Amino acid sequence: MYKVFINGYGIIGSRLATAISKDSDTSLVGIAKYSADEKTEEAIRKGYKVFVPKKLITEFRKKNYDISGSIEEAVTDSDLVIDASSEGNGYKNLVRYYRPLKKKAVFQGGEDRYGKKSVADIIHNSRINYEKTLDKEFVIQGSCNVTGMGKIIQPIIEEYGDAIRRFDVNLVRRWADLEDKKEVKDSIEWDKEPHHQDDFKDIVPGINLHVDALKVPSRMMHLHQMTIRFENKPPSKDEILKLFQDEFGVAILNNAKGTGDIRKKAIELNFEHGDTSMVHIHNELIRIQEDILKISYSDDQTGMVIPENYMLIQSMLKNKSRKEAMKLTDKLFGLKRKKKTLENEFQ
Ligand SMILES: NC(=O)c1ccc[n+]([C@@H]2O[C@H](COP(=O)([O-])OP(=O)(O)OC[C@H]3O[C@@H](n4cnc5c(N)ncnc54)[C@H](OP(=O)(O)O)[C@@H]3O)[C@@H](O)[C@H]2O)c1
Repeated sequence: MYKVFINGYGIIGSRLATAISKDSDTSLVGIAKYSADEKTEEAIRKGYKVFVPKKLITEFRKKNYDISGSIEEAVTDSDLVIDASSEGNGYKNLVRYYRPLKKKAVFQGGEDRYGKKSVADIIHNSRINYEKTLDKEFVIQGSCNVTGMGKIIQPIIEEYGDAIRRFDVNLVRRWADLEDKKEVKDSIEWDKEPHHQDDFKDIVPGINLHVDALKVPSRMMHLHQMTIRFENKPPSKDEILKLFQDEFGVAILNNAKGTGDIRKKAIELNFEHGDTSMVHIHNELIRIQEDILKISYSDDQTGMVIPENYMLIQSMLKNKSRKEAMKLTDKLFGLKRKKKTLENEFQ
């Protein structure tokens, strides 16, 4: 059985651990902790082996945490590492562990694709370039926003490609996640150079895409307002609804009042970690005006990239086709079932 280690146990790492520990086909070596805090206890309680930097083993053990060994030992024992570290640490881990120990690694969207601290030569989006990750040693999983954009943009390009002049997207981003301890500041902040535009253009070269990003005082998901300008008349609303009807990881919802409604519903429905792991097109916000189609959808920031990381295990370790990988992903995450449930709840 292939062995996977999760380096980092925060918002993303803890979700990845839940998923991989349930997969009968992959063995979870354990998770990494860097701070001797209560999350260490949580991981041990959940039955994960906890690995820490060698120099911190004594500190963790002094606090009576049952530590299984060093990060280096865990990486050595793995076939692939999912790096779920805070932004920028992925590069340090690449230099320190993954390259010298010759281990495949998946990085998260906070790492660099270009420049001195580049960690990989590809950003993955399972809707667009899964096949290109099959032979890779190192891959960056696109951020939640980039992943969500791919789920909407790619089906539209496949269906209407040449008829489209440009895509403009306003990303309205949550300030912090629900479990985050950081304070939510009462301000609307803008991003001078949103990385999402360059990241997406890296995945779909040549796309005429313009992204603006605003951070708002909320902990409840992102909302993307996408404007698609066509050469002539855009497709009808019915055609758009039909296009996304069976799209994997895309739900079409009616009458949600805001992102909080969806997050609270996911928690109420006992979805794992309160995540839907998908985007939700808001039916009543689809608008057609002259040559413009407007689509607004919410994007589950915390859950979105977890099935995507799992898809990368299927490609980089198991060489599975996209179709097979999607089937296994649906089996583990129940995305089709969740989509149906949400669509029934928001009719
Ligand atoms: N949060 C989201 O919604 C979201 C969505 C998509 C993508 N991402 C991306 O996923 C990555 C992780 O984000 P997050 O929200 O999970 O961050 P987070 O909650 O702050 O967790 C980061 C984790 O990194 C650990 N860490 C510290 N130094 C490390 C090192 N040198 N190597 C490995 N791990 C280290 C921390 O461990 P200790 O706690 O033990 O100190 C912590 O558990 C980022 O690249 C982020 O951009 C986040």
